[in-house]
This record gives sequence, structure tokens and C-alpha cells, in this order.
Amino acid sequence: DTGVALVKSGVLTTCTHLPYAPFQSKDAAGKVVGFDVALVDLVAAKLKVTQEIVDTPFEGIKSGSDLNAGKCDLAAAGMTITEERKKVLDFSDPYFDATQALAVLTGKEVKTLEELAGKRLGVQGGTTGEEYINAQVKEKKLDIEVVSYRDLAALQQALATNQVVAAVNDLPVWNEYIKANPGKVVVATGFDTGEQYGFAVKKGNAALLKAVNEALAGARSDGTYDKIYKSWIGE
Ligand code: ARG
Repeated sequence: DTGVALVKSGVLTTCTHLPYAPFQSKDAAGKVVGFDVALVDLVAAKLKVTQEIVDTPFEGIKSGSDLNAGKCDLAAAGMTITEERKKVLDFSDPYFDATQALAVLTGKEVKTLEELAGKRLGVQGGTTGEEYINAQVKEKKLDIEVVSYRDLAALQQALATNQVVAAVNDLPVWNEYIKANPGKVVVATGFDTGEQYGFAVKKGNAALLKAVNEALAGARSDGTYDKIYKSWIGE
């Protein structure tokens, strides 16, 4: 017994919001795989259980309500550590650095938010990208119609079908989309938001948080983190 209480015995139940490749998405066989999944598998191994993934909207993940309701033990969703979220979740040590990026269809010449005046810009609901854009629009009094989509797939679909001229999301997610759909979209510009991802547990679940941080530290020191990074993110 590792002394870590789990909502369902024998499994580490992880809440995530699909799709969010390369962090979590379904492979051809319908299995959820990705960078986060591989790291959380290390935590599960440490606890001598297997990981079971629950796909659920991001709002319930970032608000802490899924963890509080016992829907899962851990949240792993390419989720940025923020001061606001820290009030309702306990985060692990940071495991990934990210920034925001603006993607457009190849051939569209957009370099700044100002150039989107009078146009539609897509964001993913509940994310730091949405917050960043709303803050920029307010601060710079930009005349942009910000359209919020429920998940990454809907946002990318909106961009691909010209329902929005540009779309904002985390840079690694656009890099992955470009790898999977060569030539379709380009990253027009980036916003250095200096974000860091963390895994989250229910407030006060110190035993599980300790196991997560130990698994992360172990993976960093024995080269496993680098291997996982190479296989999901690239060089
Ligand atoms: N990093 C961003 C945030 O924390 C986006 C995360 C979206 N994740 C997901 N699995 N849908 O807000």
C-alpha cells in the first residue's frame, strides 16, 4: 500500500479534456495517448495502479469541481498553472513551458491583433488563451469579434472552414496541428505569456501531490522525461 487514497481502487483516475494533442488525444485505435498521458503513467506505476482517463469539459477541470466531486484523482490537461486556479486546485511542480500563438490559414497575411479589426478571432472556451485575448481586446480597445469554441477540435475546424480569420491557442498544439496537416495553417505570431503546465489534485491531497512530484523529479533525473518529450513534442 502506497498510502495514497484513490477514488476508485486499483486505478489512478485522470480527468482530461479531449482533444489536446500532443498532450492528450485518441490514437487510431481510440486509446488516449500523449505527453501528459505518458507522464501520468509514471505516477500510476509508482502507485502500482493503472491510469484510467475520463474525458470531461475543461471548465469542470480548471474550477476544481471534478476533483472535488471525486470524478477523478488527478487533472492532466495541458493545464496552465495560474493564481486563480491555485485557489481551487493544488498544482504539481511545472512540467512544461508554453506560450500562446495566433494561427491563420496559409497565405493569410496577419501579423498583429490590430490587423484583425472588424474580423472574427477564435479561442477555446475557459482557457488562458481566451483570457489573454479578452484582456488584450479590452486594454487596447480592439474591434475584434472574439468567438469562443467548446474544445480544440471545434476551434481548429472553425479556422479550417473560414468561420474565423485567426485562432489563438497554446503554441505546441498548433505545432502539432501543422505536423498532422502540413501546409494548411501557419503560426502568424506568438504571445510570450510565459505559461507553465501543472498536474492538479484536489486541494489538500498532499499524498498524491507528493507522488506526482516524485515521479516528475525521477523522470527528469533518469532521462525518461527527455524521452517522452522527444517522442511527443519533438527535438
Ligand atoms: N493551457 C491552456 C489553459 O490552461 C489550455 C488548456 C486546454 N486543455 C485541454 N485539454 N483542452 O487554459
